[in-house]
Amino acid sequence: MRLLIKGGRVIDPVHNVDDILDILIEGGKIIWISKVGDSSQFTVNSKGKKSVNSQPSTVDRVLDAKGLVVCPGFIDLHAHLREPGREDEETIATGTQAAARGGFTAVCAMPNTDPINDNQSVTEFILDKAKREGLVHVFPVGALSKGQKGEELAEIGDLYKAGCLAISDDGRPVMNAELMRHAMEYASMFNMQVISHCEDLNLSRDGVMHEGLVSTELGLRGVPAAAEEVMVARDLILAEMTGARLHLAHVSAAGSVRLIREAKARGVRITAEVTPHHLVLTEETVRGFNTNAKMNPPLRSAADREALWEGLHDGTIDAIATDHAPHALAEKDVEFDYAPFGIIGLETAVGIVLTVLVGKGALSLSEAIARFSTNPARILGLNNKGHLGVGADADLTILDLKREWRVDVSGFSSKSRNSPFDGWHLRGMPVLTLVEGKVVWEAQ
Ligand code: DOR
Repeated sequence: MRLLIKGGRVIDPVHNVDDILDILIEGGKIIWISKVGDSSQFTVNSKGKKSVNSQPSTVDRVLDAKGLVVCPGFIDLHAHLREPGREDEETIATGTQAAARGGFTAVCAMPNTDPINDNQSVTEFILDKAKREGLVHVFPVGALSKGQKGEELAEIGDLYKAGCLAISDDGRPVMNAELMRHAMEYASMFNMQVISHCEDLNLSRDGVMHEGLVSTELGLRGVPAAAEEVMVARDLILAEMTGARLHLAHVSAAGSVRLIREAKARGVRITAEVTPHHLVLTEETVRGFNTNAKMNPPLRSAADREALWEGLHDGTIDAIATDHAPHALAEKDVEFDYAPFGIIGLETAVGIVLTVLVGKGALSLSEAIARFSTNPARILGLNNKGHLGVGADADLTILDLKREWRVDVSGFSSKSRNSPFDGWHLRGMPVLTLVEGKVVWEAQ
């Protein structure tokens, strides 16, 4: 099966390409990239007609990408697929459908499932399910500690052998600094990434939103930015000490951005991600007591949001990740204090970033693509992904920058509906997602 993607604006931050090109795909790989015009040599295969050319000359399908942007496939470093255990909220099948629709060709599945992914058999179950039912690649993240209890290290070597590229207790912080140190040392032996959910539970205790004027006015208990910042500082120190690869999840506070920037300048091996919701919403969104404005870390102040924009632009923050966290309607439809933390994000992330950040000129298109694709691939050590070189995996995301659409959660592929963006009008949309050369999502 040969597929030709014809005449799209190809943007590949790795090879510094932004040009109108044709891309030829075969056997799940990119086998040919050429300037438009050279592609006249390609003719659609009419039942086994042999090519007369030494160059690839016959194709089975032509996808006309004129007017569209063709990018390396987007990789979400942070999603909760809920399977095993909470299949009422999401499954690997529905979560990867949501990913494909949102323009993602791969997702990292966080370990806070039930049972927790702290051993080989759960990792194997996830990988097996993903192979049979998943639309996009799934990279399971193993738990850092047994049962994510923060007491005893999980079998990190076993998790690595089973297929985990990273470990994390995401959803919970690792409060014990010595355990975190040992996790970093073990992970380094396998060159695995340690993903840290930075939160000091003593500072955040019982908080439900950002601590500030709004929390005081609303009478809700706040989580100070310091709850994140002190743990960012600790983990940066431990990463420097151990030389481990540390990735900081869902960075939300200005102080964290400053600490990461300083550590990077010193040469510490760290990377960081930010979510679309922390980039575009603030604590003000909580005023309506909408539980879809409740997540962990919480939506912060306008000044924090500004620092996130700066950090994303100057490269302090490497990636945009969704923290897709599906929750059942009945569980979210309660008083703010009692609702679980988290919102879905796979189907809105790209549209939000294109509309708000790229649309306002805060991020160039190429920078946005690097943060959705190139940098996540680098963080996970996936050399064949995140770029469009000949021989790379044919995981591609195709965007229509002019397409206007309204977010309507009722039509989402995700099983859950907990999005604060329902009803938003967006400009820019993933219209085609290809995984190993197969079309897994095509917008009407
Ligand atoms: O808002 C959140 N939801 N933050 C987390 O860290 C965990 C996640 C979840 O699993 O629901």
